[in-house]
Amino acid sequence: MGSTARKVSLTGIKPTGEPHLGNYVGAILPALDLADSYESMYFIADYHALTTVRDPALLRHYTRSVAATWLAAGLDPDRTTFYRQSDIPEIFELSWVLSCMSAKGLMNRAHAYKAARDRNREAGREDLDAGVNMGLFNYPVLMAVDILIVEADVVPVGRDQLQHVEYAADIAGSFNSIYGDRYKLKIPKPVVPEEGTAHTLPGTDGRKMSKSYGNTIPLFAPEAALKKVIRRITTDSVPVEAPKEPESSSVFTLLERFGDPAVVAETRARLLAGGMGWGEVKAQLTEALNERFAPMRDRYEALMASGSELDDLLAHGADKARKQTRPVLERVRDAIGIS
Ligand code: TRP
Repeated sequence: MGSTARKVSLTGIKPTGEPHLGNYVGAILPALDLADSYESMYFIADYHALTTVRDPALLRHYTRSVAATWLAAGLDPDRTTFYRQSDIPEIFELSWVLSCMSAKGLMNRAHAYKAARDRNREAGREDLDAGVNMGLFNYPVLMAVDILIVEADVVPVGRDQLQHVEYAADIAGSFNSIYGDRYKLKIPKPVVPEEGTAHTLPGTDGRKMSKSYGNTIPLFAPEAALKKVIRRITTDSVPVEAPKEPESSSVFTLLERFGDPAVVAETRARLLAGGMGWGEVKAQLTEALNERFAPMRDRYEALMASGSELDDLLAHGADKARKQTRPVLERVRDAIGIS
């Protein structure tokens, strides 16, 4: 690398569901790779989840589950900074400050807010803001603060989050144009993964694996539950003896990603030749996933147990993060005339 001051990369994870195989391949693995080339920060955006998760036990569960998943998947809390958004009070103070420099019109044009209005329009509702809370409306400001308060250079995000990173740059620009002679916020850059198959997986129905389609395979399900999900994967009804197109079912595509290459090659040949049923491929997939994820699952379960080191790890991460967030907030307060 050569340079001593490595660039900062920030990854935010919203705890709104049980982690699945698609998250692992599409988000977790690529994000963990960044730790080699950036000073990497990862945080759980639990206050962002509050815009939709209203069950306190569930919010707590998802937050711990996401944290345990990333740690089990190999996040190294010594080499990176791993924390919970709600443990960083500076974020919420800066959020007010920057909301005073954020154009309301910018928020009116945010994708998620516009989509909520479109849904109301389609449903024939007179009030297009029905069901929209201020958390949803202000979501982009809070996300901008997450990014700006750690002076992130790059923010790896999916395409759906690109606008939010652009907003963060925009809001930083507004602040800088007023106070730039006293203090300048760093302008972040989004990093969007290339389109392609490397980061996506097919789900049980053949469409892209996604929580919103209800076609996910859980990452850490016990073996019996995993078996059940895999049995549900859609296949054609070609009889066992007949030749089959391996790629016609996501069973094989998933086996290709997680199975032993020798088994995959043999299975492909046997499917093409005829005489192999999908049930057997499903059994191979169950075994492959079990083998690959069993050690991670053990670690996940140990972290999820009450009294595990999880809470200490997050508290320690918050201490580390606040070494960065405190001075930024101090400089902002000083720049705006509040100190
Ligand atoms: N909005 C992101 C999502 O829904 C999560 C997030 C919150 C985030 N704050 C962030 C991502 C800051 C990157 C940087 O996935």
